[in-house]
Formats: sequence, structure tokens, C-alpha cells
Amino acid sequence: MGASHFCEAIASRFFGTVFVLLEVLPSVRRHRLPPQESSSQDESEIERIGEKERGGCARVEFGEDEDGGNDPYIYSTNNFVGRQIFEFDPEAGTTEERAEVEEARLHFYNNRYQVKPNSDLLWRMQFLREKNFKQTISPVKVEDGEEITYEKATATLRRSVHFFSALQASDGHWPAENAGPLFCLPPLVMCTYITGHLITVFPAEHRKEILRYIYYHQNQDGGWGLHIEGHSTMFCTALNYICMRILGEGPDGGQDNACARARKWILDHGSVTHIPSWGKTWLSILGVFEWSGSNPMPPEFWILPSFLPMHPGKMWCYCRSVYMPMSYLYGKRFVGPITPLILQLREELYAQPYDEINWKGVRHHCAKVDIYNPHPWIQDFLWDSLYVCTEPLLTRWPFNKLIRKRALEVTMEHVHYEDENSRYITHGCVEKVLCMLACWVEDPNGDYFKKHLARITDYLWVAEDGMKMQSFGSQQWDTGLAIQALLASNLTDEIAPTLARGHDFVKKSQVKDNPSGDFKSMYRHISKGSWTFSDQDHGWQVSDCTAEGLKCCLLLSMMPPEIVGEKMEPEQLYDAVNVLISLQSKNGGLAAWEPAGAAEWLEMLNPTEFLADIVVEHEYVECTSSAIQALVLFKKLYPGHRKEEIDQFITAAALYLENVQMADGSWYGNWGVCFTYGTWFALGGLTAAGKTFNNCAAMRKAISFLLAIQKENGGWGESYLSCPKKEYVPLEGNRSNLVHTAWAMMGLIHAGQAERDPTPLHRAAKLIINSQMENGDFPQQEITGVFLKNCMLHYAAYRNIFPMWALAEYRRRVPFVDV
Ligand SMILES: *[C@@H]1O[C@H](CO)[C@@H](O)[C@H](O)[C@H]1NC(C)=O
Ligand SMILES: *[C@@H]1O[C@H](CO)[C@@H](O)[C@H](O)[C@H]1NC(C)=O
Repeated sequence: MGASHFCEAIASRFFGTVFVLLEVLPSVRRHRLPPQESSSQDESEIERIGEKERGGCARVEFGEDEDGGNDPYIYSTNNFVGRQIFEFDPEAGTTEERAEVEEARLHFYNNRYQVKPNSDLLWRMQFLREKNFKQTISPVKVEDGEEITYEKATATLRRSVHFFSALQASDGHWPAENAGPLFCLPPLVMCTYITGHLITVFPAEHRKEILRYIYYHQNQDGGWGLHIEGHSTMFCTALNYICMRILGEGPDGGQDNACARARKWILDHGSVTHIPSWGKTWLSILGVFEWSGSNPMPPEFWILPSFLPMHPGKMWCYCRSVYMPMSYLYGKRFVGPITPLILQLREELYAQPYDEINWKGVRHHCAKVDIYNPHPWIQDFLWDSLYVCTEPLLTRWPFNKLIRKRALEVTMEHVHYEDENSRYITHGCVEKVLCMLACWVEDPNGDYFKKHLARITDYLWVAEDGMKMQSFGSQQWDTGLAIQALLASNLTDEIAPTLARGHDFVKKSQVKDNPSGDFKSMYRHISKGSWTFSDQDHGWQVSDCTAEGLKCCLLLSMMPPEIVGEKMEPEQLYDAVNVLISLQSKNGGLAAWEPAGAAEWLEMLNPTEFLADIVVEHEYVECTSSAIQALVLFKKLYPGHRKEEIDQFITAAALYLENVQMADGSWYGNWGVCFTYGTWFALGGLTAAGKTFNNCAAMRKAISFLLAIQKENGGWGESYLSCPKKEYVPLEGNRSNLVHTAWAMMGLIHAGQAERDPTPLHRAAKLIINSQMENGDFPQQEITGVFLKNCMLHYAAYRNIFPMWALAEYRRRVPFVDV
């Protein structure tokens, strides 16, 4: 019997002990999942490989503390507002409810090659049931040749707004999956295996759901893509194969022959000697690869003099925070326990005997299908020099004592600092696992590691396609957009409590402080006044999240406080403005996390073969545009505050947008797919900065671009391949995607299309109206989020937020024909 449950750790409703909540909540938030057939593995088997052979590692009271609510290893800056975790309850569920969940799984499975992102149905079913949500507004359809009436647009919008409001959590945010990459979960499973915590972190039902996720996202050729829509890669195929084996599947086990097909794929593509560098690192840690087959990752990086161009302070924050624990584990040449399973994997993953592999020779090998960002020769030359010249010295006396030992200590100081300042959530899923392992390697019984264990659940998400590790939560980002969509609906009377709760969440989620201590010496930028992508505890400022949060607070400040709650204090708004201004580059563009400006040539040192632009911080169209929109509104409401700086900011930022427009009139989107997303943002920014169709050539070109790619059915639809290829690629078969349709519609509306010729907008609105589902939801279609050009991200809330928002703008701004 079993169920993974969603329950939110939202302390704001329950004052007093933060963790009482988890005792209180389950009765309110139980979601019932159906009983399942027992899987092929047996608990004692896993117990044996996971625990006993470790020779009695410390067991952390993870589960008990979480439920008991007195976990001394977890703390929060704001009573866990926005924290969202799933919990398993074997008792829950009526027969019908379990059947409903089983049907959702089956539906996903049967359509898994057509629609790869899930519909995030499990917690949604739970919420809708708990809130007793019934769609009471009748659906409408627009027939061919029929004009859209204001009433039909309004009915569709109200259906959408009420449905979406029912999905709000009690603390005011909108939960949603934010996942998609297929390289996040296996390292977490490996880490729990190595440290002897597999069974406690992932009880049987968790393991079943993890395996489900792996099976449901296996490609037809037997491999796994870098992300759920991608072609198979060595990196993710090897990691997911190992993950299945650790979770107890035999070498030929797994649903649909998963393991045998995966192993065949691996051996057909040159075996794991051809795994990219990150994979070599993880395989070495696990003991199924040799460190001598990896390029050096010296921890001495952390004690380099600051004038050097490759000093960590000049690196992009994610590059830095991943390299940090990696260089520690490399510097230690840490290898997990060599269990019988590890010995079996050494045989299964290679085409030749493990002992005969020329490790030095395979360092630069990488499967062709994995390469997106090939190493320039200069980089391989650098690795070779370090490999041949420096490493042998640094690992021998006296340098191992004089330099390496000190470098490792400094590296761990940075790890602990970052861990503490993110409340052990860390910067994201990749560094989370590496930092957790580094803490365990340093001290397996120490508090640092226990604090990490307590924050694993923050990353786990369950939907009808199983359990995965999120990239990290998108609570604030989604909520910031959702509130603006709801405000645009102009249905305040009907959703006042929803707006008030959302407002409360946004106010509570603003980061109130800078990172602790002398944060500059730890290479951190200011964060006070910012918003993060997820929750306040995460602590990492992001410029577009800050801008969207600021926009929400400003818009809500113009509404009656008795309806939407007290407006934010000016000082807090000023802090947000301060963060935005600090992130503008000389070229007018906005960086996302930290000021940009390090030398671009450092990108030549990007060691990852499958991601681009990761070594230094860059400016982004979307961040720049969000900031313009926020500051223009701010200036209107607070004209006296830093007026000149803000004016200069806006002028320079608008110029940046014009300067980075593509020749075809589009903009390259960095965080959404792709030119449709970038163009929507850029048009919003230019409009806010006072540009119009008549006075701005860039805008006219952008309109031509959007109109030229509208589909016959009135929609827009762009393939994720636009992102890696950096050229517009339509969806196969000229399909439309409702999220793309919404972005394009809003871009056109920003640029005054309604006044020139509303026909394209009517056609688009018709598609959205006719696509709405019975309950007010919209169907999940292709993946629409991205990061680092080549890896896609599933934002499960987008399918609601954007069609709703576009329809709201349409209803407000486009004239209707009187019928
Ligand atoms: C897709 O649309 C383009 C432009 O409208 C057209 O040239 C092409 O033939 C269409 N392709 C398919 C498969 O319908
Ligand atoms: C919003 O709704 C009110 C009535 O509730 C109406 O008077 C007002 O014109 C609407 N605003 C827009 C922009 O449609």
C-alpha cells in the first residue's frame, strides 16, 4: 500500500513551534495514492547493499524528526514560508481516489512519447478535492466564422481564474514542479548509497516512485536525454542505469526491460569511458571509474591570488558553487565503499576489463551525442598541463601538506558558508548533493551532514510520472507571474482573498539581509531587498525574480489595503531597487545573480561538454526587461527616490535591448523557449521605456517577426531546439503551443497590435478559448523552460499562468465587435 503525499510546511498559519505544522498538516493535506504491486526488489536486499556493507555508518533520525517536528538540524529565516514537501501516508485514499491517480499514471505512460512533461496532477487533485472545487461556470466555444464576444472571453477567463485560485497554497504561493533535467536525481541516490542513508532517505515507496520516473522517461532507443525531451546521452543514460541498479534492479531488470536496453545503449556508444566530465566525476566518486581518468579540478583554485583572471570571485556563481565541492572531492580523491554492486557495475559499464582501461587516455573522450559545447584545444592543453605537471606535485610531500591541505580547508570553509547561507538548500540540485557528500567526507557524524539530510525533501517532487529531484523550487517566480496574471484579469471582487494571500507570500519572501559576515570575501553579492527564485531561505538574489516581485508589490500598493493587505514599506521597496541597480552592466543589460563583467574569453575554460555560457556571468534580455518594467512603475509611484540613476538605468537598459535584437527582429530567450519568450519580454521592456511601434524600428521588426510565425490555427509553437541551435525552429507539424501563443499575444498587445489590426489577436484568443478544458485547466504540452542554452526545464504552472494572463490582456486591451 502506498502513497506519496503532498503536504506543505507552511508555518505562517501556525504560530509557535515551526515543526508542529507537520503534525497538524497531514490531516488537512493528505493526498491518497493507490496501493501498488510490490516491485522486483526486496527491502532486505537494498538494506544489505545500502547499509550493512558500510560497516555501521551513523543513522540520522531523518524521518522521525521530520514528522515529530523537533528536528534540531533544520531552521528557517521566515518560518518556512513557501517550503513544500511530500510525505507518504499508507492510510490515505478512497478506492475512487486511488483509481484516479492510477489512471493519471497510466495516461502519462501511454502518452509518454508524445507529451513528455507531466501535468503535475497529484497535488492538484489533492488540492481541488480538499477545497471542494467545482467548476461552476459553463465552458464556451467559438465556432468557425464566429466573432469572439466580451462575454465569451470573460467566461473563459473567469473559469481559468477560479480554477487557478483553487490551486493556491495556504501560505499564498502556487506549488509547481520545476524539473526536467535527468542528471539531478541519480547523484542524490548515489550519495545516499555511499553514505549509508539510502533506506532512511528513500523508503520503499519513494524508491518505487523514483524508478517510475526513470522508466517513464526512458527514450525508445533505451537511453535518457539530458532532459525529458532530449535525445539520449551517455551522461544521463549511465547515471540512470546506475541509479536503477542501486535501487535494487538486476542487470536485466526494470519495467520494459529498462536495464538491458540501457546497457546496450551504453555499450553501443563506446561505454562509459565516453561519459562527459561531470559524469566522470560522479563515476569516480562512486568507484566505477578512476580519478586518474578525470581532468584535474584542483582545490588550489580557492587560494589563488585575486588578480588572476580565473579567480573564483570572477566566476559565474553556479560554476563556482559546483566547482567548490567537486574540487574538494577531487582533491581528496574520495571514493565510496567498493561493494559487490560496485564491482558488478565495473563489469557492466565497460566493453573491456576494468583493470585494462587506460585511464589517462580516456580523459578527453566524450560521446558525440553528448557534445554541445566542445572543448577548445587550449582547454584540453590546460588540463593536460595540470594533469602532468601540477597534480603530481600537489599530491606529494611536501606540497600535499603545505598547499593541498590548506586548499582543502579553505574549500570546505566556502562549502559551509554557502550551506549556512542557504539554510542547507544550497544554490541548486547539483551542488546540493556534492556539498552534502563533501560534508559527510569531512565528518560522517557531523552536524553539517545532518543539516543537509534535513533539507533533501525540499528537492523531491512527485507527480503522475514518479518522483524526481527538482532543479530547485520556483515558488516565488511562479507566484510573481501568477499575481500579475490575476491582477490583469480585473476580477478583483471575485478573488480578493487569493490576491491578499499572494501579496502576503511575496512580502514574506523578500530577502531581508545580505549573506552573513564579510560576504564580499566569500565572493557573494548583496542580497538584501531581493527576491529569490524559490523561497527566502534559499537566499540567492536573482534580478528578474526581484523585478517581478517588486512589480507585484507596486501593483498591489495601488489597491485598497482592506482588500489586498497592507502595502510594502517604502524602505523595502528601496532595497529591491538597490539590488536591481547594482546588477546593471556597462552595456545597459542586467545580469541575473551577480554583476557581470569578467572576461568573456574565460568561457573557453567551460569544462562541461553539454552546457554553454557557464563560466562567467552574462546579461539577459529577460532580466533587463523585467527590471525596466519594475523601475518605470516604481518611478511613477516614488518619483523622488534615486531619480537620476533610475532614468539613466532605463535609458541604458532599453538601448541594450535594441542592441541585442536578432537580425530577424526576434530576441534570444535564455530562460524560456525561446525567440517567442525573448521577444515577449523585450517588447514589454521597450514599451515600458516609452517605445512605440511608430517611434521604434526595433519594435516594428519584432512585430513582423511574430506575425510571420503565427500558425494557421492562430497559435504559436516553437521547438525547444531553437535554444541550442540559436535559430528559430517551429514545432514539428506546425503545431501550436498555448504557452507560446500566450507569449506572442502579449508581445503583440504590448506593441499596440490591437490598435493597428486586432485580427491576429482574435485568432490567437480563439485558440486559447477553444483549448480550455472542462474544469478550467489548460492541457500540458511541450516543455517551455530552459537554462544554459541546452537544458530544458518544465515549469508546470506555465500552462495556467500564461494563457490566463494573455486572455486577461486581450479582454482588457482588444476592442470587441458588438454582436
Ligand atoms: C508549416 O508552415 C509553413 C509556413 O506556413 C509551411 O510552409 C509548411 O509547409 C508547413 N509545414 C507543415 C508540415 O504543415
Ligand atoms: C475593470 O473592471 C471595472 C468594473 O469592475 C471597470 O469599471 C473597469 O473599466 C475595468 N478595467 C479595465 C481596464 O478593463
